[in-house]
Amino acid sequence: MANKSDAVLSQFTQQVEEEAVDTSRKIKVGIIGTGWIAESHILCYKNMPDVEVVAAADLIPGKAEAFMKKFGVDGVRFYPDHKSMLDNEELDAVSVCTYNTQHAAPTIYALNKGVNVLLEKPFTVTTEEAVEVMRAEKKSGKILSIGFQPRMDENMKMIKKIVESGELGEIYYIQTGGGRRRGIPNSTFIEKSTGGIGALGDIGCYSLDMVLNAIGYPKPLTVSGYTSNFFGTNPLYATPDAHHTAAENAARFSVDDFAAAFIRLEGGIILDFRISWAMHLDTPGDTVILGKKGALRIPSTDCWNGTVGGPMTLYHDLAGERAQTTVPIIENKGAGLFEKKIRSFVDAVKYGLPAPVPSSQILYNQAIIDGICKSAEVGHEIQIEIPEI
Ligand SMILES: NC(=O)c1ccc[n+]([C@@H]2O[C@H](COP(=O)([O-])OP(=O)(O)OC[C@H]3O[C@@H](n4cnc5c(N)ncnc54)[C@H](O)[C@@H]3O)[C@@H](O)[C@H]2O)c1
Repeated sequence: MANKSDAVLSQFTQQVEEEAVDTSRKIKVGIIGTGWIAESHILCYKNMPDVEVVAAADLIPGKAEAFMKKFGVDGVRFYPDHKSMLDNEELDAVSVCTYNTQHAAPTIYALNKGVNVLLEKPFTVTTEEAVEVMRAEKKSGKILSIGFQPRMDENMKMIKKIVESGELGEIYYIQTGGGRRRGIPNSTFIEKSTGGIGALGDIGCYSLDMVLNAIGYPKPLTVSGYTSNFFGTNPLYATPDAHHTAAENAARFSVDDFAAAFIRLEGGIILDFRISWAMHLDTPGDTVILGKKGALRIPSTDCWNGTVGGPMTLYHDLAGERAQTTVPIIENKGAGLFEKKIRSFVDAVKYGLPAPVPSSQILYNQAIIDGICKSAEVGHEIQIEIPEI
């Protein structure tokens, strides 16, 4: 189970924007994987008058049925896996809410059936899987959007605006990441067979997206990566859950709980990154973006989940003197970020708009994560290879 302090679900307490929605055509949606994050999807879809959730699939018998009952959604047809659902339904779109190792297969199957896909983050586990998904996307001509709701945050947009304004000048160094002192999730997140990757995929992908999106997603070239799992595998620090003791979860733990890397990006930019589910430290540092004209400091709190946790500071010269400008937190108005993420996907499907969070960008995010794992395995710096799509 993902850390509940993620404040993902709590965003539904926000006031939902009253916007005129064209209901003359209803988008038929299916949900693949009815676990924890699917709850956020169904809560959003339920609120949308132009969406009809008609099908749901889960590998665990009875889970999808109980899920729809809990959320009071009627008229849904149920399936034991993504294939039987996609073979038997005429859908406009699916939410793929499966664990990481089951991101690629259902997404490829859906795209091959001509169905648009909103795929939860991280994109996949490996670069090769991401490339296979993108080949299916290209062939299908359908929309594939990756579920990074922090993209909808006005503060995240502000980071990008600051970079694009030229205030920082040419960027040459970025430090990002973050982590929790104690925050190891359990459930399907901690095993290689389901999670595939640990802190790297769960939260690392967010802090990478925060900075890479701001600077226009340059291609990653090389990486020297390190991963460890000292906390997850230790019964003292492993997290118990409804089905396992801490000792049992420590024995199941087979992914990373900490990662660090030094990445070279196209354009001569250095990316210094670290991420952690648990450590003997509150934070490994702020996110900083250094440019030739100025620098931006984003306080580390919550950076790990793609949230700007406090006012940012812009360091620059003013009339020849060193100056600092505080960039206050911008309040997000209207619907919660998660609802905005789903709405933007539904609108893209309805109106043939580009994917709100395109795979072409997140491919580089995935290639860095995969590169860190591969470099850590061989113990030295490696070239990041990305096959042609
Ligand atoms: N965007 C966010 O804020 C956010 C937050 C938490 C989790 N996530 C992501 O969502 C994904 C799921 O996380 P979760 O906490 O819901 O996991 P979960 O284990 O609670 O749920 C996953 C469900 O998918 C089902 N499943 C797996 N393969 C399937 C298949 N082929 N067909 C049908 N069902 C299948 C499983 O049986 C399980 O019920 C992860 O990739 C995670 O990274 C995103």
